[in-house]
Amino acid sequence: DKGGWSSFMAKEINDQPDAVENTVRGRVSERGVEIPELTALGDERLAGIDRVIIIACGTAAYAGQVGAYAIEQWARVPVDVQLSHEFRYRDPVLSERTMVISVSQSGETMDTLMAVKYALERGVTTVSVCNTQSATIPRESDAAVYTHAGPEVAVASTKAFVAQITALYLIGLHLGRVRGTLSAEDQARAVEQFETLPAKVREAVDTHDQIAQLAHWMADSRSVLFLGRHVGFPIALEGALKLKEIAYIHAEGFAAGELKHGPIALIDHGQPVFVLVPSPRTSPLMHSKVVSNIQEIRARGARVIAIVEVGDTAVLPFADDVIRLPLADPFFEPLLQVIPLQWFALELSTAKGLDVDQPRNLAKSVTVE
Ligand code: BG6
Repeated sequence: DKGGWSSFMAKEINDQPDAVENTVRGRVSERGVEIPELTALGDERLAGIDRVIIIACGTAAYAGQVGAYAIEQWARVPVDVQLSHEFRYRDPVLSERTMVISVSQSGETMDTLMAVKYALERGVTTVSVCNTQSATIPRESDAAVYTHAGPEVAVASTKAFVAQITALYLIGLHLGRVRGTLSAEDQARAVEQFETLPAKVREAVDTHDQIAQLAHWMADSRSVLFLGRHVGFPIALEGALKLKEIAYIHAEGFAAGELKHGPIALIDHGQPVFVLVPSPRTSPLMHSKVVSNIQEIRARGARVIAIVEVGDTAVLPFADDVIRLPLADPFFEPLLQVIPLQWFALELSTAKGLDVDQPRNLAKSVTVE
């Protein structure tokens, strides 16, 4: 049931405040974050983990990339992200102190299931972040941390993505608490951020009308670029993926710092570029670097759509369009920034008369390797 929306994707974008709220529910208190399924693994086992590898495909892998920054920060353990279908071919260095976290909306993606099995055979601790109750991957894993985004029908993932990032953050905070690496202050801040998150996600959803107008004049675009730094980088990749998936437009995401090492050659007159701008309050250094990137591409004719924190006026002289999002701590910015990009892909797909929910050649869940 689309609940009165024109597509499942539109409904699911709109569901996102509930998706994050339901994923957090019961796992956060004044004492911090506690996920019972991780507690069941034993604190000693969690404290002994010396390496985390996140495995996933597609949108779930980008959620993994965002989560990796936070888990490494809060739990002080090295984290890398690998595509499930690449994982075993590199003969990865694994031990009983390795934790593999798989991320999968469906819990049935064959590439990810095979990677989990490979890890299990080597005595690794496997944790599944999954949206589908009792799916194969969570059943096979040592622990399942469910996202509670509700059923996702549109092939292009939206609410599962924000719920996956949320769940990975909860895992990072749980590990940080058990391992004694998370300061009381960081814990309290994160708890407070979770409390205010659903209302901020709602405000991000409300950017729809502004994005719809933008999409109107951009419907003929042949290529769209996305730039981000730190946790904004995987959001740039996800924004590009959405556009490829449902609007069939060539799109690429880049780390903003990489621009001058190659991609800036692509910038020509009228080239649309979305830029995810970190907060000038909390990340002044990154902010000034990204503003410089905007100036560089603008000078070469790019059409800049800046996604900024409300009150950021530094970008105004250089941006053609500005999308404003509520104030949030750095790790919570991506959960807001991705939403206008989801709307943008949906609006371009609609403008081109395409089937938003059922894009050509794609399936919701790919159960072959
Ligand atoms: C792809 C889907 O095939 O699988 C994507 O089209 C999805 O939308 C990816 O992100 C991973 O799926 P899952 O179920 O493992 O999260």
